[in-house]
Amino acid sequence: MKGLLLSGGKGTRLRPLTFTRAKQLIPIAGKPNLVYGIEDLVSAGISEIGVVVSPETGADVRGALDSGERFGAHLTYLLQEKPLGLAHAVLVAHGFLQDDPFVMYLGDNILQGGIAHLLELFEAKRPAAVVLLAQVANPGAFGVAILDAQGELKGLVEKPAHPPSDLALVGVYLFTEEIHAAIANLEPSARGELEITDAIQQLITQGSKVEALRVRGWWKDTGKPTDLLDANHLVLSHLLPCLRGEIDASEVTGNAVIESGAKVIRSQLRGPVYIGRNAVIEDSYIGPYTSVGDGAQVLRSQVEYSILLDGARVKDLPLMLDRSVVGQDAVVDGIQIGARKHTLQLVIGDMSRVTL
Ligand code: TTP
Repeated sequence: MKGLLLSGGKGTRLRPLTFTRAKQLIPIAGKPNLVYGIEDLVSAGISEIGVVVSPETGADVRGALDSGERFGAHLTYLLQEKPLGLAHAVLVAHGFLQDDPFVMYLGDNILQGGIAHLLELFEAKRPAAVVLLAQVANPGAFGVAILDAQGELKGLVEKPAHPPSDLALVGVYLFTEEIHAAIANLEPSARGELEITDAIQQLITQGSKVEALRVRGWWKDTGKPTDLLDANHLVLSHLLPCLRGEIDASEVTGNAVIESGAKVIRSQLRGPVYIGRNAVIEDSYIGPYTSVGDGAQVLRSQVEYSILLDGARVKDLPLMLDRSVVGQDAVVDGIQIGARKHTLQLVIGDMSRVTL
């Protein structure tokens, strides 16, 4: 069994964060999103993993993961020249995959319960494919499963106006070599992509067995900024406390991870919170479900339910920063200069969002 981790794509919904980085490298509680996928694959016994990358962000992904040795994996990088769809990524990877069965894992997905049960079902029943499903409140935004009364998968529809169920396709699939023939027959969809849902539908139509399985625990696809905050919330909910940095005249309640070199001075931390390496929290309040990146600073400010990326600086804010994502090395400064008390002074990058 091989693994295929998808780390290409455009990430348009996460702009401006994705102007400068792969969305799969955005840290969730201090760990790049796609590392959660590698860890799931490795704990299910899959160490031979292909990583599909784009020309724009491939070097960064490679720089972050390297050979994969430190995760117990052997990684092979596969360049997808253009983001022409999930099935196109499989096409690009065919030489690496050969005719072995494989688990395809989208690099912007996070699962709480891992994928061991997916492999167990495959070993027990040997179907042509296994898909994972999760109950969602907004099925119209996903690929949706059509099940019969016995719970057998009868079909899939992509982003339906009238969803036949509330069971969405999760971004983790198990395929056998049959998927390659199905992909070879595909035509690009209306949005110009080779759709993996069309290829799976073809397997079902031709009578090949496709099993459907529910996710264990929660699942999150971090396509949009609010999804990043939700994923951060879910991961921090299971945080195990760990103190490697320094705490001086501060109060810490609830679970907190404070990484080495971090300093918490005259502040209040209310967990769960993650404070990255060499971060500085001074005369501030950090509230639940906040991740502060490596080298980031929070000075004389209050922050809750937010993600500050590496090197971000938040200073002298007159209001609490809530449900916010602050980009790498970005500065949010509340200092009021002279008489210009009720003005805003902003240097905002393309496609940034400010809510006051
Ligand atoms: P999507 O979130 O569907 O697409 P995207 O990354 O282009 O984002 P957006 O819609 O905001 O522009 O992709 C799901 C995952 O699959 C993600 O990790 C990127 C990856 N992917 C590829 O590797 N190659 C592709 O051709 C596509 C479409 C996605």
